[in-house]
Amino acid sequence: MHVLVTGGAGFIGSHACQRLLRDGHRVVCLDNLFRGRMGALEVLRAGEGGDRFAFVEGEVGDRGVVAGVLEEHGIEAVLHFAAVAYVGESVDDPLGYYRANVAGTIGLLEACAQARGGEGVERVVFSSSCATYGDPPEGMIPVPETCPQRPTSPYGRTKLMCEDVIRDYGVACGRAGRRFGAAMLRYFNVAGCDRAGALGEDHTPETHLIPVAIQAALGVRPGMHIFGTDYPTADGTCVRDYVHVEDLIDAHVRVLERLGTSDEAVEVLAYNVGIGRGYSVREVLDSVRRVSGVDFAVSEGPRRAGDAVALYNDPSKIGRELGWRARIDDLDEIVGSAWRWMSAHPRGYAG
Ligand code: UFG
Repeated sequence: MHVLVTGGAGFIGSHACQRLLRDGHRVVCLDNLFRGRMGALEVLRAGEGGDRFAFVEGEVGDRGVVAGVLEEHGIEAVLHFAAVAYVGESVDDPLGYYRANVAGTIGLLEACAQARGGEGVERVVFSSSCATYGDPPEGMIPVPETCPQRPTSPYGRTKLMCEDVIRDYGVACGRAGRRFGAAMLRYFNVAGCDRAGALGEDHTPETHLIPVAIQAALGVRPGMHIFGTDYPTADGTCVRDYVHVEDLIDAHVRVLERLGTSDEAVEVLAYNVGIGRGYSVREVLDSVRRVSGVDFAVSEGPRRAGDAVALYNDPSKIGRELGWRARIDDLDEIVGSAWRWMSAHPRGYAG
Protein backbone atom coordinates (compact mmCIF):
# COMPACT_ATOMS: atom_id res chain seq x y z
CA MET A 1 0.00 0.00 0.00
CA HIS A 2 1.12 3.61 -0.55
CA VAL A 3 0.77 5.34 2.81
CA LEU A 4 1.17 8.97 3.86
CA VAL A 5 2.37 9.35 7.45
CA THR A 6 1.94 12.90 8.74
CA GLY A 7 4.28 13.73 11.61
CA GLY A 8 6.46 10.81 10.58
CA ALA A 9 9.62 12.38 12.03
CA GLY A 10 8.11 12.43 15.53
CA PHE A 11 8.33 9.81 18.26
CA ILE A 12 5.20 7.83 17.38
CA GLY A 13 5.11 8.67 13.67
CA SER A 14 8.68 7.45 13.10
CA HIS A 15 7.85 4.11 14.72
CA ALA A 16 4.83 3.86 12.38
CA CYS A 17 7.03 4.51 9.33
CA GLN A 18 9.47 1.83 10.48
CA ARG A 19 6.73 -0.79 10.89
CA LEU A 20 5.07 0.03 7.53
CA LEU A 21 8.42 -0.18 5.73
CA ARG A 22 9.17 -3.53 7.40
CA ASP A 23 5.74 -4.75 6.25
CA GLY A 24 6.62 -3.88 2.64
CA HIS A 25 4.57 -0.71 2.16
CA ARG A 26 5.66 2.49 0.40
CA VAL A 27 5.76 5.34 2.89
CA VAL A 28 5.81 9.10 2.45
CA CYS A 29 6.47 11.11 5.61
CA LEU A 30 5.17 14.69 5.73
CA ASP A 31 6.61 16.66 8.64
CA ASN A 32 7.38 20.34 9.28
CA LEU A 33 10.30 19.36 11.57
CA PHE A 34 9.01 21.71 14.28
CA ARG A 35 9.35 18.90 16.82
CA GLY A 36 10.20 16.06 14.47
CA ARG A 37 13.80 14.88 14.20
CA MET A 38 16.05 14.62 11.12
CA GLY A 39 17.86 11.88 13.05
CA ALA A 40 14.73 9.71 12.97
CA LEU A 41 14.44 10.22 9.20
CA GLU A 42 18.06 9.15 8.75
CA VAL A 43 17.38 5.96 10.70
CA LEU A 44 14.36 5.22 8.52
CA ARG A 45 16.29 5.84 5.28
CA ALA A 46 19.09 3.54 6.39
CA GLY A 47 16.78 0.82 7.74
CA GLU A 48 14.78 -2.03 6.26
CA GLY A 49 12.73 -0.80 3.28
CA GLY A 50 14.48 2.58 3.31
CA ASP A 51 14.38 2.59 -0.50
CA ARG A 52 10.56 2.72 -0.25
CA PHE A 53 10.67 5.77 2.05
CA ALA A 54 10.28 9.41 0.99
CA PHE A 55 10.29 12.57 3.08
CA VAL A 56 8.52 15.85 2.29
CA GLU A 57 9.05 18.85 4.54
CA GLY A 58 5.82 20.80 4.85
CA GLU A 59 2.71 21.67 6.81
CA VAL A 60 -0.08 19.15 7.10
CA GLY A 61 -2.62 21.97 6.81
CA ASP A 62 -1.14 23.19 3.51
CA ARG A 63 -3.64 21.79 1.04
CA GLY A 64 -1.40 22.47 -1.94
CA VAL A 65 1.55 20.57 -0.50
CA VAL A 66 -0.60 17.67 0.67
CA ALA A 67 -2.46 17.47 -2.67
CA GLY A 68 0.89 17.30 -4.48
CA VAL A 69 2.09 14.45 -2.24
CA LEU A 70 -1.16 12.50 -2.62
CA GLU A 71 -1.05 12.82 -6.41
CA GLU A 72 2.67 12.22 -6.93
CA HIS A 73 2.81 9.13 -4.69
CA GLY A 74 -0.63 7.65 -5.44
CA ILE A 75 -1.48 7.63 -1.73
CA GLU A 76 -4.12 5.08 -0.69
CA ALA A 77 -4.15 5.61 3.07
CA VAL A 78 -3.19 8.31 5.57
CA LEU A 79 -1.95 7.86 9.13
CA HIS A 80 -2.36 11.31 10.68
CA PHE A 81 0.01 11.83 13.64
CA ALA A 82 1.12 15.43 13.03
CA ALA A 83 0.06 17.54 16.02
CA VAL A 84 1.25 19.55 18.97
CA ALA A 85 0.62 17.51 22.09
CA TYR A 86 1.50 19.09 25.42
CA VAL A 87 -1.47 19.58 27.73
CA GLY A 88 0.18 22.43 29.70
CA GLU A 89 1.38 24.26 26.58
CA SER A 90 -2.13 24.07 25.11
CA VAL A 91 -3.48 26.03 28.08
CA ASP A 92 -0.98 28.84 27.41
CA ASP A 93 -1.30 28.78 23.62
CA PRO A 94 -4.80 27.57 22.74
CA LEU A 95 -4.88 29.38 19.40
CA GLY A 96 -1.64 27.74 18.30
CA TYR A 97 -3.10 24.37 19.29
CA TYR A 98 -6.42 24.87 17.49
CA ARG A 99 -4.57 26.06 14.39
CA ALA A 100 -2.01 23.26 14.32
CA ASN A 101 -4.32 20.41 15.24
CA VAL A 102 -7.80 21.37 14.02
CA ALA A 103 -6.94 23.56 11.02
CA GLY A 104 -4.17 21.10 10.14
CA THR A 105 -6.63 18.21 10.06
CA ILE A 106 -9.12 20.20 7.97
CA GLY A 107 -6.45 21.10 5.40
CA LEU A 108 -5.35 17.47 5.21
CA LEU A 109 -8.92 16.24 4.68
CA GLU A 110 -9.63 18.88 2.04
CA ALA A 111 -6.65 17.63 0.06
CA CYS A 112 -7.72 14.00 0.66
CA ALA A 113 -11.24 14.79 -0.61
CA GLN A 114 -9.90 16.02 -3.96
CA ALA A 115 -7.38 13.21 -4.47
CA ARG A 116 -7.61 10.29 -6.89
CA GLY A 117 -9.50 12.32 -9.50
CA GLY A 118 -12.12 13.38 -6.94
CA GLU A 119 -12.74 9.89 -5.51
CA GLY A 120 -10.82 10.83 -2.40
CA VAL A 121 -8.42 8.93 -0.14
CA GLU A 122 -10.55 6.17 1.36
CA ARG A 123 -8.66 5.28 4.55
CA VAL A 124 -7.62 7.63 7.34
CA VAL A 125 -6.33 6.67 10.79
CA PHE A 126 -6.31 9.55 13.27
CA SER A 127 -4.17 9.85 16.43
CA SER A 128 -6.66 10.76 19.08
CA SER A 129 -6.14 10.72 22.81
CA CYS A 130 -7.67 9.55 26.05
CA ALA A 131 -7.39 13.28 26.87
CA THR A 132 -10.71 13.55 24.97
CA TYR A 133 -12.36 11.84 27.96
CA GLY A 134 -11.21 14.38 30.53
CA ASP A 135 -12.03 13.06 34.00
CA PRO A 136 -14.17 9.94 33.51
CA PRO A 137 -17.26 9.78 35.75
CA GLU A 138 -17.47 7.20 38.51
CA GLY A 139 -17.74 3.66 37.28
CA MET A 140 -15.96 4.49 34.00
CA ILE A 141 -12.43 3.42 35.01
CA PRO A 142 -11.12 1.35 33.30
CA VAL A 143 -12.25 3.63 30.49
CA PRO A 144 -14.46 2.20 27.74
CA GLU A 145 -15.02 3.95 24.39
CA THR A 146 -18.56 4.76 25.58
CA CYS A 147 -17.17 7.03 28.31
CA PRO A 148 -18.50 10.60 27.79
CA GLN A 149 -15.92 12.75 25.98
CA ARG A 150 -15.54 15.89 28.06
CA PRO A 151 -11.95 17.07 27.62
CA THR A 152 -10.49 19.31 30.32
CA SER A 153 -7.74 20.98 28.26
CA PRO A 154 -7.49 22.83 24.94
CA TYR A 155 -5.28 19.94 23.73
CA GLY A 156 -8.01 17.39 24.50
CA ARG A 157 -10.61 19.63 22.87
CA THR A 158 -8.56 19.90 19.65
CA LYS A 159 -8.44 16.10 19.44
CA LEU A 160 -12.18 15.79 20.05
CA MET A 161 -12.89 18.48 17.43
CA CYS A 162 -10.77 16.58 14.93
CA GLU A 163 -12.81 13.45 15.65
CA ASP A 164 -16.00 15.44 14.93
CA VAL A 165 -14.53 16.89 11.73
CA ILE A 166 -13.60 13.41 10.48
CA ARG A 167 -17.02 11.98 11.41
CA ASP A 168 -18.89 14.80 9.63
CA TYR A 169 -16.65 14.41 6.58
CA GLY A 170 -17.55 10.71 6.57
CA VAL A 171 -21.27 11.55 6.58
CA ALA A 172 -20.75 13.89 3.62
CA CYS A 173 -18.85 11.18 1.74
CA GLY A 174 -21.78 8.81 2.28
CA ARG A 175 -24.25 11.38 0.97
CA ALA A 176 -22.08 11.92 -2.09
CA GLY A 177 -21.91 8.15 -2.73
CA ARG A 178 -18.19 7.90 -1.97
CA ARG A 179 -16.38 5.26 0.05
CA PHE A 180 -14.57 6.39 3.20
CA GLY A 181 -13.23 4.60 6.23
CA ALA A 182 -11.66 6.26 9.24
CA ALA A 183 -10.53 5.19 12.68
CA MET A 184 -9.88 7.32 15.72
CA LEU A 185 -7.35 5.65 17.96
CA ARG A 186 -7.47 7.15 21.45
CA TYR A 187 -4.04 6.63 22.93
CA PHE A 188 -3.28 6.23 26.60
CA ASN A 189 0.34 6.99 27.70
CA VAL A 190 2.59 5.95 24.88
CA ALA A 191 5.98 4.75 26.13
CA GLY A 192 9.06 2.69 25.31
CA CYS A 193 11.11 2.64 22.13
CA ASP A 194 11.87 0.42 19.16
CA ARG A 195 13.21 -2.75 20.83
CA ALA A 196 15.83 -3.08 18.11
CA GLY A 197 17.27 0.18 19.46
CA ALA A 198 17.28 2.28 16.29
CA LEU A 199 14.42 4.72 17.02
CA GLY A 200 13.71 6.48 20.27
CA GLU A 201 11.80 9.13 22.16
CA ASP A 202 13.44 12.55 21.87
CA HIS A 203 11.24 15.46 22.92
CA THR A 204 12.20 19.05 23.66
CA PRO A 205 11.01 19.91 26.20
CA GLU A 206 10.71 16.47 27.77
CA THR A 207 7.86 16.30 30.27
CA HIS A 208 6.75 12.65 30.15
CA LEU A 209 7.31 10.58 33.24
CA ILE A 210 9.38 7.67 31.91
CA PRO A 211 11.91 9.69 29.84
CA VAL A 212 12.20 12.31 32.59
CA ALA A 213 13.00 9.59 35.16
CA ILE A 214 15.50 7.98 32.77
CA GLN A 215 17.18 11.35 32.22
CA ALA A 216 17.48 11.64 36.02
CA ALA A 217 19.01 8.15 36.18
CA LEU A 218 21.46 9.10 33.40
CA GLY A 219 22.43 12.32 35.17
CA VAL A 220 21.22 14.39 32.20
CA ARG A 221 19.04 16.21 34.74
CA PRO A 222 19.88 16.54 38.42
CA GLY A 223 16.81 14.67 39.63
CA MET A 224 13.07 14.66 39.22
CA HIS A 225 9.89 15.60 40.94
CA ILE A 226 6.69 13.68 41.72
CA PHE A 227 3.67 15.88 41.07
CA GLY A 228 1.35 15.03 43.93
CA THR A 229 1.51 12.30 46.56
CA ASP A 230 -1.91 12.88 48.13
CA TYR A 231 -4.12 11.36 45.43
CA PRO A 232 -6.79 8.82 46.47
CA THR A 233 -4.77 5.90 45.06
CA ALA A 234 -2.97 3.01 46.78
CA ASP A 235 0.34 4.92 47.13
CA GLY A 236 -0.95 8.49 46.74
CA THR A 237 0.39 9.06 43.20
CA CYS A 238 -1.44 9.17 39.86
CA VAL A 239 -2.13 6.02 37.92
CA ARG A 240 -1.69 5.71 34.14
CA ASP A 241 -1.79 3.08 31.40
CA TYR A 242 1.62 2.88 29.65
CA VAL A 243 1.31 1.29 26.20
CA HIS A 244 4.47 0.35 24.30
CA VAL A 245 4.87 2.32 21.08
CA GLU A 246 5.33 -0.86 19.01
CA ASP A 247 2.04 -2.27 20.33
CA LEU A 248 0.37 1.07 19.61
CA ILE A 249 1.59 0.96 16.01
CA ASP A 250 0.39 -2.62 15.71
CA ALA A 251 -3.11 -1.34 16.49
CA HIS A 252 -2.76 1.10 13.56
CA VAL A 253 -1.71 -1.68 11.21
CA ARG A 254 -4.66 -3.83 12.27
CA VAL A 255 -7.19 -1.06 11.86
CA LEU A 256 -5.70 -0.09 8.50
CA GLU A 257 -6.21 -3.68 7.31
CA ARG A 258 -9.77 -3.56 8.63
CA LEU A 259 -10.72 -0.26 6.92
CA GLY A 260 -12.01 -0.81 3.43
CA THR A 261 -13.19 -4.37 4.10
CA SER A 262 -16.67 -3.38 5.26
CA ASP A 263 -19.84 -3.74 3.17
CA GLU A 264 -20.74 -0.25 4.32
CA ALA A 265 -19.53 2.55 2.03
CA VAL A 266 -18.71 4.70 5.04
CA GLU A 267 -17.33 3.44 8.30
CA VAL A 268 -15.96 5.56 11.15
CA LEU A 269 -14.48 3.53 14.02
CA ALA A 270 -13.09 4.50 17.41
CA TYR A 271 -10.88 2.44 19.71
CA ASN A 272 -8.96 3.06 22.88
CA VAL A 273 -5.36 1.83 22.78
CA GLY A 274 -3.86 0.99 26.15
CA ILE A 275 -2.74 -2.18 27.90
CA GLY A 276 -5.65 -2.23 30.34
CA ARG A 277 -3.76 -1.88 33.58
CA GLY A 278 -2.62 1.13 35.52
CA TYR A 279 0.74 1.84 37.15
CA SER A 280 1.31 4.55 39.73
CA VAL A 281 4.06 7.16 39.40
CA ARG A 282 5.95 5.44 42.23
CA GLU A 283 5.69 2.06 40.49
CA VAL A 284 7.12 3.60 37.32
CA LEU A 285 10.01 5.15 39.25
CA ASP A 286 10.74 1.80 40.93
CA SER A 287 10.85 0.21 37.49
CA VAL A 288 13.31 2.85 36.21
CA ARG A 289 15.50 2.17 39.30
CA ARG A 290 15.41 -1.59 38.68
CA VAL A 291 16.13 -1.31 34.96
CA SER A 292 18.88 1.32 35.24
CA GLY A 293 20.40 0.14 38.51
CA VAL A 294 20.60 3.81 39.55
CA ASP A 295 18.95 5.31 42.62
CA PHE A 296 18.39 8.84 41.30
CA ALA A 297 17.13 11.84 43.29
CA VAL A 298 13.35 12.17 43.54
CA SER A 299 11.60 15.04 45.32
CA GLU A 300 7.91 15.21 46.12
CA GLY A 301 5.74 18.24 45.58
CA PRO A 302 2.25 19.52 44.89
CA ARG A 303 -0.10 18.24 42.22
CA ARG A 304 0.37 19.39 38.60
CA ALA A 305 -2.65 21.34 37.33
CA GLY A 306 -4.91 19.33 35.09
CA ASP A 307 -3.69 15.84 36.05
CA ALA A 308 -6.42 13.20 36.31
CA VAL A 309 -6.20 10.82 39.29
CA ALA A 310 -6.33 7.50 37.47
CA LEU A 311 -6.69 6.72 33.78
CA TYR A 312 -6.38 3.27 32.32
CA ASN A 313 -8.02 1.52 29.46
CA ASP A 314 -10.75 -1.04 29.10
CA PRO A 315 -9.24 -2.87 26.11
CA SER A 316 -12.20 -5.18 25.43
CA LYS A 317 -13.57 -3.46 22.30
CA ILE A 318 -10.32 -3.40 20.35
CA GLY A 319 -9.60 -6.97 21.47
CA ARG A 320 -13.00 -8.21 20.32
CA GLU A 321 -13.18 -6.33 17.02
CA LEU A 322 -9.54 -6.16 15.86
CA GLY A 323 -7.95 -9.00 17.81
CA TRP A 324 -5.46 -6.50 19.27
CA ARG A 325 -3.98 -6.75 22.70
CA ALA A 326 -0.78 -5.36 24.15
CA ARG A 327 1.97 -7.97 23.83
CA ILE A 328 4.49 -5.94 25.81
CA ASP A 329 2.63 -5.53 29.09
CA ASP A 330 5.48 -5.88 31.54
CA LEU A 331 6.44 -2.46 32.88
CA ASP A 332 10.16 -3.30 33.15
CA GLU A 333 10.21 -4.37 29.50
CA ILE A 334 8.54 -1.13 28.42
CA VAL A 335 10.91 0.96 30.54
CA GLY A 336 13.86 -1.23 29.50
CA SER A 337 13.35 -0.48 25.79
CA ALA A 338 13.35 3.28 26.56
CA TRP A 339 16.40 2.89 28.81
CA ARG A 340 18.41 1.10 26.11
CA TRP A 341 17.85 3.82 23.51
CA MET A 342 18.19 6.76 25.89
CA SER A 343 21.35 5.44 27.55
CA ALA A 344 22.87 5.02 24.08
CA HIS A 345 21.60 8.53 23.08
CA PRO A 346 21.61 10.60 26.30
CA ARG A 347 21.04 13.79 24.30
CA GLY A 348 18.57 12.26 21.86
CA TYR A 349 19.32 11.95 18.15
CA ALA A 350 21.88 14.74 18.53
CA GLY A 351 24.20 12.53 20.59
N1 UFG B 1 4.76 13.05 36.42
C1 UFG B 1 5.54 13.36 37.54
N2 UFG B 1 6.73 13.97 37.32
C2 UFG B 1 7.20 14.29 36.06
C3 UFG B 1 6.39 13.97 34.94
C4 UFG B 1 5.16 13.36 35.17
O1 UFG B 1 5.15 13.09 38.67
O2 UFG B 1 8.28 14.86 35.94
C5 UFG B 1 3.46 12.39 36.62
C6 UFG B 1 2.29 13.23 36.14
O3 UFG B 1 1.87 14.12 37.15
C7 UFG B 1 1.27 12.14 35.81
C8 UFG B 1 2.13 10.95 35.35
O4 UFG B 1 3.43 11.21 35.85
O5 UFG B 1 0.60 11.75 36.98
C9 UFG B 1 2.19 10.82 33.85
O6 UFG B 1 2.53 12.09 33.30
P1 UFG B 1 2.99 12.29 31.78
O7 UFG B 1 3.32 13.74 31.62
O8 UFG B 1 4.01 11.29 31.43
O9 UFG B 1 1.69 11.92 30.96
P2 UFG B 1 0.20 12.49 31.06
O10 UFG B 1 -0.61 11.38 31.64
O11 UFG B 1 0.12 13.79 31.72
O12 UFG B 1 -0.09 12.79 29.53
C10 UFG B 1 -0.30 11.78 28.60
C11 UFG B 1 0.10 12.25 27.20
C12 UFG B 1 -0.81 13.36 26.76
C13 UFG B 1 -2.23 12.94 26.89
C14 UFG B 1 -2.51 12.48 28.29
C15 UFG B 1 -3.89 11.98 28.46
O13 UFG B 1 1.44 12.68 27.22
O14 UFG B 1 -0.54 13.69 25.41
O15 UFG B 1 -1.63 11.42 28.63
O16 UFG B 1 -4.15 11.84 29.83
F1 UFG B 1 -3.06 13.96 26.62
